[in-house]
Amino acid sequence: MVLKEDFYRKFFLSPDGDNFEEFVQRIEYFFLKLKPWWEDPRPSPTEKDEYDANTKLPDNISNDPYAVLDELLTRLKRCRRLNSRRFGLTPLPLFPSLIAAYLTSLQNPNNIVDGWGKSGWLEGSSDQVTPNLEKECIKMIAADIIGYDRRKASGNLVSDGTLSILSALLVARDKIYGPIIRLKGLFGQGEGKVITSKNAHYSIRKALRILGIGEDNLIEIPVVNDDEIQAFIKDGKPFSLQPHWEILEGLLKKEKVIAVVPTLGTTETGTLESIEELTRLRDEYGFFLHVDAAIGGYALLVEGIRENRARGIEKSDSVTIDPHKLGYIHYPCGAIIFSNEEDHELLRYEAPYLRDIAPTIEGSRPGTHAAACWVALKTLGKSGYSRIISERIQITKYLAKRLQEENYQLLHDVHLNIICFSLKGDVSRRKLNELNKKLCKKINERNNFHVSYLEDLAGIRVKENDKEQCITGLRLVVINPYMNEEIAEEFIEELNEVRKILMRESGIDLKAT
Ligand SMILES: Cc1ncc(COP(=O)(O)O)c(C=O)c1O
Repeated sequence: MVLKEDFYRKFFLSPDGDNFEEFVQRIEYFFLKLKPWWEDPRPSPTEKDEYDANTKLPDNISNDPYAVLDELLTRLKRCRRLNSRRFGLTPLPLFPSLIAAYLTSLQNPNNIVDGWGKSGWLEGSSDQVTPNLEKECIKMIAADIIGYDRRKASGNLVSDGTLSILSALLVARDKIYGPIIRLKGLFGQGEGKVITSKNAHYSIRKALRILGIGEDNLIEIPVVNDDEIQAFIKDGKPFSLQPHWEILEGLLKKEKVIAVVPTLGTTETGTLESIEELTRLRDEYGFFLHVDAAIGGYALLVEGIRENRARGIEKSDSVTIDPHKLGYIHYPCGAIIFSNEEDHELLRYEAPYLRDIAPTIEGSRPGTHAAACWVALKTLGKSGYSRIISERIQITKYLAKRLQEENYQLLHDVHLNIICFSLKGDVSRRKLNELNKKLCKKINERNNFHVSYLEDLAGIRVKENDKEQCITGLRLVVINPYMNEEIAEEFIEELNEVRKILMRESGIDLKAT
């Protein structure tokens, strides 16, 4: 059978470059079609996307390679905009790194192959480019951001923070129980604990489930005590939310502890949990010290952070850091960094058909993200990241000051680019919680700004008429590089306006100035 030329080949770049220019022009054409959508200042589109549960695989190939892209464009215009009026955790990706990913995707590299391979099989091979970029990213992050020894540190880019934490706890588990569990599993090995704080991200609990350690073996150290709760209720004193690590030593004396995981930049409040005292305890008791710096890692480049709140991070055993958060890379791009390459080697698995595969839980992995991350690190450098992040922290602190002046209640000390606050008034916490939810909903409906809702601050409970109440609030993440004090002021104005409406509707005095 002779295949009709052109039938499907027009969908692929031809080897002689015949359709290369058309491909590039089409990219420009589609991007420009998104421009008016991008320029709309509202953080959310008005049209909602509908999931089509009856969608079917078409019987026939499309005549036009670009036809379906038009349909896609219509739907993409229903996506949220990452503009300066959206207070969320998703970063606007740095555009050189986006271009790096598009360019690299042309040759579709797979970082399943190892940048760290000892056999030399891939040395100098054309498959080695993006694994080399990945290795260089790891060295820059390990030595120049975290402060590990450049010669000894190792690690991998992974899909996300969750996989990074899973990798670290897998290594911690194997170090405590020894290589036998690789063959026999954890059966009959006795229980071991992982200790973190009440502020920690749920991915740690999830890792315990996956690794067979069991969620019941997670111990969460409290971040508030009764005195702090009383000071919050009586004087409106924001919580410091620091883990009470002083109770850790007692636990270490009686439990088998696999790992302790402080968080540098908690999900809800951006709190930088202290690390230094844990390094001393690790030296004495011998657990694995993993720092979850998914959010706060890049902030180590901001002057003062390493010296004050992150002291000791360079003495930890491993760190989770997410380039897809304050690294300003598009999803998905996390990283696991080990201070010692021997620990990283514990992730290695021998593949039957490949000589050197990367020591990581994943199989195939995108080389595009190594390129994007590498370009971002090389483009922004220490001073670029430091400037962007320190200015985001300054704006957050400015917002904190203005919110207090306008009689809102700050819920915690501000360390990073995240702030949670609540309405204030002579009403119960239960009522304030209800009103916070309404306030959040109304702001988002008006669509001049987008904020998130804080459902339960650090699991804290306050007693009211014999009932326990959680603390809710609004959560602002200042991440967009175009966000400035002027926009912050516009937000305060909008907030006050919505508070007035709430007061009218509820008949409650919400302590407006
Ligand atoms: C502190 C912290 N750790 C880990 C994670 C998990 O990261 P990912 O969503 O990339 O899996 C998050 C996510 O927001 C986080 O805030």
